[in-house]
Amino acid sequence: MASYEEVGIGDAVLLDEISTRAFVENLRVRFNGGKIYTYIGEVCVSVNPYRPINLYGKEYVSQYKGREIFERPPHIFAIADAAYKAMKRRGKDTCIVISGESGSGKTEASKIIMRYIAAVTNVAGQQEIERVKNVLLQSNAILEAFGNAKTNRNDNSSRFGKYMDINFDFKGDPVGGFVKNYLLEKSRVVMQQPGERNFHSFYQVLFGATDAELSRLKLKRDVNAYHYVRQGGTPRVDSIADKADYKSCQGAFKTLGFSNEKIDAIWRVVSAILHLGNVQFTGGGDETLISNPEVVRNIAELIKVPVDAVMKALCHRVIAARGEVMEKMHTESEASYGRDAFAKAIYERLFSFVVDGVNTAIEVRVEEQDRRYKYNTVIGVLDIYGFEIFDKNNFEQFCINYCNEKLQQLFIELVLKQEQEEYKREGITWTNIDYFNNQIICDLVEQPHKGIIAIMDEACLNVGKVTDELMLEAMENKLKGHNHFTTRKLSPMDKELKHVEEFRVRHYAGDVVYNVKGFIEKNKDTLFQDFKRLMYSSSDPVISSMWPEGAKDITATTKRPQTAGTMFKNSMVALVKILMSKEPYYVRCIKPNDQKSPVIFDDQRVTHQVNYLGLIENLRVRRAGFAYRQSYDRFLRRYKMISQYTWPNFHGGSDRDGTKILVEEQGFTNDVTYGNTKIFVRSPQTLFALEQGRAMLIPGIVVFLQKMWRGGVQRLRYRRMVAARTILHHYRLYKMRSYMVELLRVFRNVRQMPDYGKHVRWPAPPLTLRNTVTDFQSIHNRWRAQMILHKVPRNEWPQLRIKVTAGDALMGKRADWGVRDKWEGNYLASNQENHDSSSFQSAVRNMKNKDAFKEVLFSSLVRKINMKDKMSERALLVTDKQMYKLHSKTFKPLRSPIPIQELTGISVSPGQDQLVVLHLRGGNDFVISLISQENFNRVGELVGLLLRQYQLLCKSDLKVLVQSTIQCMLGNKTRIITVEETEVGSFAAFRRGKKRGELIYMWPSSLNKALPPPTHTNLNHRHAPPAPPSHANGNGHNGYGNGKNIAYGNNNKQTNGSHLYANQGQY
Ligand SMILES: Nc1ncnc2c1ncn2[C@@H]1O[C@H](COP(=O)(O)OP(=O)(O)O)[C@@H](O)[C@H]1O
Ligand SMILES: [Mg+2]
Repeated sequence: MASYEEVGIGDAVLLDEISTRAFVENLRVRFNGGKIYTYIGEVCVSVNPYRPINLYGKEYVSQYKGREIFERPPHIFAIADAAYKAMKRRGKDTCIVISGESGSGKTEASKIIMRYIAAVTNVAGQQEIERVKNVLLQSNAILEAFGNAKTNRNDNSSRFGKYMDINFDFKGDPVGGFVKNYLLEKSRVVMQQPGERNFHSFYQVLFGATDAELSRLKLKRDVNAYHYVRQGGTPRVDSIADKADYKSCQGAFKTLGFSNEKIDAIWRVVSAILHLGNVQFTGGGDETLISNPEVVRNIAELIKVPVDAVMKALCHRVIAARGEVMEKMHTESEASYGRDAFAKAIYERLFSFVVDGVNTAIEVRVEEQDRRYKYNTVIGVLDIYGFEIFDKNNFEQFCINYCNEKLQQLFIELVLKQEQEEYKREGITWTNIDYFNNQIICDLVEQPHKGIIAIMDEACLNVGKVTDELMLEAMENKLKGHNHFTTRKLSPMDKELKHVEEFRVRHYAGDVVYNVKGFIEKNKDTLFQDFKRLMYSSSDPVISSMWPEGAKDITATTKRPQTAGTMFKNSMVALVKILMSKEPYYVRCIKPNDQKSPVIFDDQRVTHQVNYLGLIENLRVRRAGFAYRQSYDRFLRRYKMISQYTWPNFHGGSDRDGTKILVEEQGFTNDVTYGNTKIFVRSPQTLFALEQGRAMLIPGIVVFLQKMWRGGVQRLRYRRMVAARTILHHYRLYKMRSYMVELLRVFRNVRQMPDYGKHVRWPAPPLTLRNTVTDFQSIHNRWRAQMILHKVPRNEWPQLRIKVTAGDALMGKRADWGVRDKWEGNYLASNQENHDSSSFQSAVRNMKNKDAFKEVLFSSLVRKINMKDKMSERALLVTDKQMYKLHSKTFKPLRSPIPIQELTGISVSPGQDQLVVLHLRGGNDFVISLISQENFNRVGELVGLLLRQYQLLCKSDLKVLVQSTIQCMLGNKTRIITVEETEVGSFAAFRRGKKRGELIYMWPSSLNKALPPPTHTNLNHRHAPPAPPSHANGNGHNGYGNGKNIAYGNNNKQTNGSHLYANQGQY
C-alpha cells in the first residue's frame, strides 16, 4: 500500500462513526486541508474548491495511471482510471455518472476526466488518435459557448444535459465519440433573472468579434443595446473572458472542421436573435405593426430571407382550416409571444445544429470501425444538470429535478438495491440497510395517465381553452393523497403554497414548490408554422437545412408533435437504459457554499446535499459490504497462476473448491466470504495483493505462451519444409525419370547410326541432371570412340595418336599431310629407304649408348640449307629426346644433338612440298626438305611426332605455323622463305631470292600427287586413322567438311573422323 499524508479520512468507509455529522465533518476537515476528494469505496465525493488547485498535472497523471483505486490518495483520476481499466481489461462498457447540484463542479469534473483519458492513451502517438482526442477536448469550448450561461449559482452553468460517449479501440485508444444533449434551457434566450446572463455565445460575439465582423452582423459593441442580453444587468463577469472565449470557440470550430459558411451562418443566427429581441410592436384595434422596421431589415439580411416575409411572419399567422387557407393578424401580445417563441426556437435549433457538427467531427469513422475497431468499447461521461431549487420554480426546474430523480433511481438500483439483493441471492448473511427508494417519486412524475407529465399532456391535448389553473385542478384530482404531492387545496394549512398557482413535490432531495404558470405553454412548445416556413425559405443553405419541416405545405395536417414533457421523459428513459448497460462509476459533486468561496464550508448546505445524495446509505452499504466480488470461474481464471494447486488448471473439484484452495493458500480466508456463485472479498488490500501476485507472474506466462507459440510456429514451418522437400524430391525423381525416358528414346538406335549418335541432339536436362549429363555425354563419347577404335589394331594406336596430333595442327591448313600413308617413323632403318640401313642402325646404337635415348621416333634423309645458303644432304634423326643431324652416308652425327625442348616452333607451307622449318633457340633454325624414295609426304608425320614429344617433355604445346612465306633465323639473321612451285626439276631445292635475305624453296609441281576429292576421301582402314578435330570452330565439326567424312579411309559408313576424336586428350 502506498503511504501518503492524510488529512481526515480518505475513504469514509474507514470512519469510526457512521453518521451524517461525522461524514460532513470529515469532508470539512479535508476541504480545509485542500483535499477535495473523498471516497466511499469506489464512489468519489468531490467538493468544489472554488479555486484553482494543482492536482491535475503530469506528475499526478503518472501517479494514478494503471493503479488501483485504493493505492493512492482519493482523486477523480483514480475513478477515471478505474473506468478505463475496466473497459480495457475486461472489454466492458463503463460510464461515469457525475451528479450534484448546479455549480458543484460536474462540468469541471467531466473535463478533468476527459483530459486524464487523453493523457493516458495513445502512447504510440498515432496521428488519428491525437486528432480525435484534440477534437474531443476542444468540443467543450463550443458546447459551453452555446450551452452554458452565468447563473446566480455558477458563472459557467451548463444549461443543458450532456452525455458523452468516448469510443475506444481494442488497444484502449480513443477513436471517436458521441455527444447527446438534453433539454436546453431555452427560456433563457428571451428572459434572464437579475444577476444572470443569456448564453455565453451572445456575449462572445458582442465582445469578441472584430469591428468588421460586427458591422457585417449589423451589431454595435454594446450589450445594453439588446433587450435579450441586458435583462440580468450583469453583462460583464470577472470570471468570464468573453473575448478570449470567442477566439477559442472560433478555433474549436476550425479544429472540428466546421466550414466557413457554417461558422458564418452560426454567428449570423446568433446576431439575428439579438436583433429579434429588439423588435417592437404597436397595436391598436385590429392592427399590429412593427414600430422599428429597420431592425427587421437587419434580421432579414442576416438570415437571408425577404424583409416583408419576416414582417409578415411576425405579425400574421396563416391558418389552414378545412382545406381553406386564411390569414390572421396577431394581436400585439400574440406577436410578442410569437417573437420570443421564434427566438427560443431558432436558438434551440442552432444548438442542436452545433452539437450535430461536433458529433460529425468526433464520429468514429465507419471504415476505421470496420477495419480496426471491432472490439469497440465505450466510456460514457454524464454531466447533467443538478437538482435545482429556486424561489420560483417552473417547468424547466420540474424537468431537471425529474432527471435527478431518475439518476438517483439508477444509483439506488445499481449501488444500493443491487448490492443488497446480490448478497441475498448469494446467501450471505446480511443486515438490510434502510434507504429511501425514490421510485415512488419517479412514478409520480412519469406514470401513464396519473403521472404529472401525463396530466400536463392531457391538458395540452384539450381543444378548448385549458388554463394552467385547470391543469392544476386536474392534478389535484388525480394525485390527491399522494405522499409526495400537494397543493394548497390539498393541504389548506400549508400557508407556504399559493392557491391555484403552485404545487409541491417532495423530491428525494428536498421539497420543491413549482409555479404552474406557463406549464401548458412550455409543454406545448408551439411555434407558429409561419416561422418554420420562413426559416426554410432562407437562401442560405445552412440555415435552411436547420428547418426541414418548413418544407411542408400549409394545408398538410401535421401530427400533433410530442409535448416537451413527454419528449424529455422519453429521453430520460433512454438515458437510463444506456447507463444501465454499462458498468457505472460515480462522482458525487458537492457545493461547499453558495458564495463561490474557496474558504467557506457551509455545514448546513453540505449536510443537505449529503442527505439527498444518499451518501450515508451508500456508506453503510459499502461498509457492511465487500469491496470486490467475482464469480468463481472468473476469479479462478484470473488468479489461478498464483497457486501451484490451481495452475495451470485446477482438477480437484469445482471452481469454488479451487478458489477456496487458492485463497487459503494465500492466507486470505478471514477476508473473504463464499457466496453461492461468487466469492466476496471484503477489503481492497486483499484484492490488491492478488492483483500484485498476478502481475508478477504474468510476464513469465507471457514468455511461456510466446515460447509455445513460437515453438508451434516453428514446428509447423518445419513440417512444411519437410513436406516441401519431399515434394521436391519426388518432383526431381519424376523429372529425372522422364529425362531418362526421353534420352532412351532419342538414343534408341544409336548403335545403328553411322555416327553412333553424334548428331543426336541431347534434350535439355533438368537442373539436377546438369552435371550428370556432362558425364553421360563423355561416356557416350568414350563409347563412340571405342566403337570406332576397336576396328583399328591396337599396335596402330600410337601412330593414330600422332596422326591425331598432326591433324590438330594441320588439318584444313595444309593440302596434304600424308594421313593416308602408314607412318613408320624410322625410315632409314628400313632397307627400302636406305640401302645402308645396317650402318645407320649401328650408328644409332652408338648414339643410343652415348646419349641415352630410348628409341628412334623418326629418321629421314633431308635437304638442308645452312646460314651461308649452302644446300647439303643430311639425315635427320629424331629420338624420344633429341634431334640429330647426321651425315647422309655415314650417319655419324655432325654436331651434338639438339634437345627437343630447344624447339620454339615449326613452320610448314600449305602445299604438298616437304619443307619443314624447325625453329630453335639460338637464332639458327633447321630448314629442311624431307626426302623419301617414293616421294612420300612425311611433313605431317614429323610435325605430329615432334608436337607429341614436345607435349610429353614440356607439358605444353608447340606452335605450328602453316604459311607459304615462312620467316626463320639462319645465322642469327632473319630470312624469308617463299615456296614456289616450278615446272622444272625433279627434286626440291633452295636458292637465293632476289631480295636481300630472301630464300626460294622450289618445289617441282611434278612431284604433287593427285589428291582425292575432299568429301569422299575416306579413312584408310588399315593405315590411316582419322585426324583429330581442331576445335578451331568450336562446333565439334571442325574443318574436315561439315561433319562429313573427309580424308580418312574408305569406310564411310562406319567412321566419321571428325567425330571420332571429339574429345581430344582421351587417347
Ligand atoms: N476541480 C475544480 N477545481 C477548481 N475549480 C473548480 C473545480 N470544480 C469546479 N470548480 C469551479 O466551480 C465552477 C462551477 O463548476 P461547474 O463544473 O461548472 O459546475 P456544474 O457543472 O456542476 O454546474 C467552475 O467554473 C470552477 O470555477
Ligand atoms: Mg455544468
